[in-house]
Amino acid sequence: MTDGEEQPVTEGLTEGSGVAQTPLTRREFLYYLWASSMAVFLAGAGGVTIWFALPRFREGEFGGVFIIPIEDIPAPDADPKEFAEGRFWLVNLGEEALNDPRQPEEYQFDPGIRAIYKVCVHLGCLYKWVPTNDRFECPCHGSKYLKSVARIGGPANRNLDQFIMQIIDDAGNVLAETEATWPGDREGSTLQVPPGAVALRIDTGSRINGAPNTRPGGGT
Ligand code: FES
Repeated sequence: MTDGEEQPVTEGLTEGSGVAQTPLTRREFLYYLWASSMAVFLAGAGGVTIWFALPRFREGEFGGVFIIPIEDIPAPDADPKEFAEGRFWLVNLGEEALNDPRQPEEYQFDPGIRAIYKVCVHLGCLYKWVPTNDRFECPCHGSKYLKSVARIGGPANRNLDQFIMQIIDDAGNVLAETEATWPGDREGSTLQVPPGAVALRIDTGSRINGAPNTRPGGGT
């Protein structure tokens, strides 16, 4: 090397890159490790929160008119019968349901049939029938409902919704139809099967919301 020639800088250069690098201290390395762990943790926690907050089921993903022969109606006080395609449960409420001590007294009903919308009225999860507890239970946040539709626990603030149902004869005449029984067009009636009935017609496009229900254990 002659005088005047530049000294090549080799310390801190990646070979062939020409980019100067300063080695990390142990403290900096640990800081970056901690920061990236926190970022992964917060992203995961945020994802879980959003997953729980979003409805599990979007309206409009199913629907139509369902014709159900009278023979397919469950017996009075039998377990609810699931109709997955229509997203509803068919219940036949008899004396047992009527005299269930868990039933909040505000929500009186007559014995009969209801088609209950299968989606939890809290945030839209699909709740399940739990035979050992003789009630519906939502796996997402723990709302609980009797098969009468009454909410008896959890964060939901109304009873379950139900679909408008018609009972028809063999000519398609309507012999009975679900009606709202609560102020504000809420809480659908139960239906008894009249003579001459051959089928139920359930339109999943016509729904009656459950009555308000916010007290611990159920009630307004
Ligand atoms: S969606 Fe929250 S309790 Fe059912």
